[in-house]
Amino acid sequence: MSADDAPSEFVSRRVQNLPASGIRRFFDLAGSMDDVISLGVGEPDFDTPRQLTEAAIRSLNEGHTHYTSNYGLLELRRGVSAHLDRLYGVHYDPASEIVITAGVSEGLLLAAHSVLDPGDELLCAEPSFVAYMPCVTLAGGAFVPVPTEEESGFLVRAADLEDGVTSRTKAILLSYPNNPTGAAMARDDLLPIADLAARRNLLVISDEIYDRMTYGFEHTCFASLPGMRERTILLGGFSKSYAMTGWRVGWACAPAGILEAMMQVHQYIIMSAPTPSQYAAIEALRSGEDDVQAMLREYDRRRRLIVNGFNGLGLTCIEPRGAFYAFPSIRSTGLSDEEFAEQLLREEKVVVVPGSAFGACGAGHVRACYAAPYGQIEEALARIGRFVHKHR
Ligand SMILES: Cc1ncc(COP(=O)(O)O)c(C=O)c1O
Repeated sequence: MSADDAPSEFVSRRVQNLPASGIRRFFDLAGSMDDVISLGVGEPDFDTPRQLTEAAIRSLNEGHTHYTSNYGLLELRRGVSAHLDRLYGVHYDPASEIVITAGVSEGLLLAAHSVLDPGDELLCAEPSFVAYMPCVTLAGGAFVPVPTEEESGFLVRAADLEDGVTSRTKAILLSYPNNPTGAAMARDDLLPIADLAARRNLLVISDEIYDRMTYGFEHTCFASLPGMRERTILLGGFSKSYAMTGWRVGWACAPAGILEAMMQVHQYIIMSAPTPSQYAAIEALRSGEDDVQAMLREYDRRRRLIVNGFNGLGLTCIEPRGAFYAFPSIRSTGLSDEEFAEQLLREEKVVVVPGSAFGACGAGHVRACYAAPYGQIEEALARIGRFVHKHR
C-alpha cells in the first residue's frame, strides 16, 4: 500500500481490519491494459433479455418512479412465492415471509445483521464467495471457515462442520452451487447437514443464487428438506440466471419471526429495492424461462470446452456441476496461485482469479469464469497453454 492509499484516520477500525480484496487488484491492473480476455468477473456476458428491460422502461413511462412497499411489490413477492413453490415445493407467504432485496448481497447483509450478536459464530465452507467473511465480520459475528478439498469434490461434510461447532455457533452459511468451485450439493449431501442443524439447533443461511445453473443435476432447495424451512433463511435472485447483475434485485425468504427482523434492517438501509428493477423481475418470472434455458445451454457448451481445455493442459480441474466457474489446480506449474494469475495477466493478458482469494484452502487453484463468449474462451485457453508450457 502506498502512502496515498493509507486509510484516513477517520476510517473505523472495523473497516480498516477488513482484508484487502484479492480480486480488485487484478481488475485494476487488467483495466489499464489492452487486448485482455477476462475470465475474472463472475457475471453473465449476456445482456438482460430484451422483454425484461422493456418492462422496466414501460414502468418508468407509466410513472412508477417511487418507493415500493418496504417488502417489495406484492406482485413480485407473489411471483417469487409461486416460483419457489413450483420448483421446489416450498411455500412462503408473500405477505410476511418474503422481502425483495437489492440482490443476494443485501440478503446476506440482512441475514448477518438480524441474527448475529457480537461474538456469535457462523460456520462456512471454504473456498467461498469473497463477500461472506466481511459481511459476517461487519455484523459483529465471527466467521469460522471450514476447509473443503479437491479430493472430495469441494463438498463440505456434516462431520467437518460439526467439528467446528462450539457453544457460540449460531448459524451455518451454505452456498451451492458454489462460487468459486462449481461444486453442487445433492439431496444426500444436504441431509446430514440438516440433521446437524436440527441436533445442534443451528440456523442455516442458504445462498442459492446459482440454483438454476446446474448441468444434468437437480438442485435441492435447503428449505425443502424435512424440518428445515423453520430454521432456514433462503437467499436467491435474478443476477445470474436472468443476466441481471446491474439491476440489483433478489429475494430473501424466512419464517415471519426472522423475516420481520430482516425487514427492520432493510427498511433503514435500503427502504425498498429499485422500483424499475422490480418490474423487470416480475417480467423475468413471467416470461424469462426460455432465456434462462438458452443461456444455460450455452454455459454448458463453454463449461465442457474449458474443463477439457484445462485438463488437456495438465491443470487438473474437477467437473463443475453448477454456476459458471472452473477451478483448476495450477500446482503443476510450480507457481503459487497469486504468481500464476499475475504473470498470466502480464504475459498473456488473460484474467483469472487466484484461488486463495476465496479462502486459504483455495491456494494452488485459480478461478476462471466461463460466462464469456466461446471464441474468447478458446483464445484464452491457447494463451494459457503457451504460458503453462513456458513456465513448466
Ligand atoms: C455465491 C454468491 N452469492 C451472492 C452473490 C451476489 O449476488 P447479487 O448480484 O444478487 O448481489 C454472488 C455474486 O457473485 C455470488 O457468487
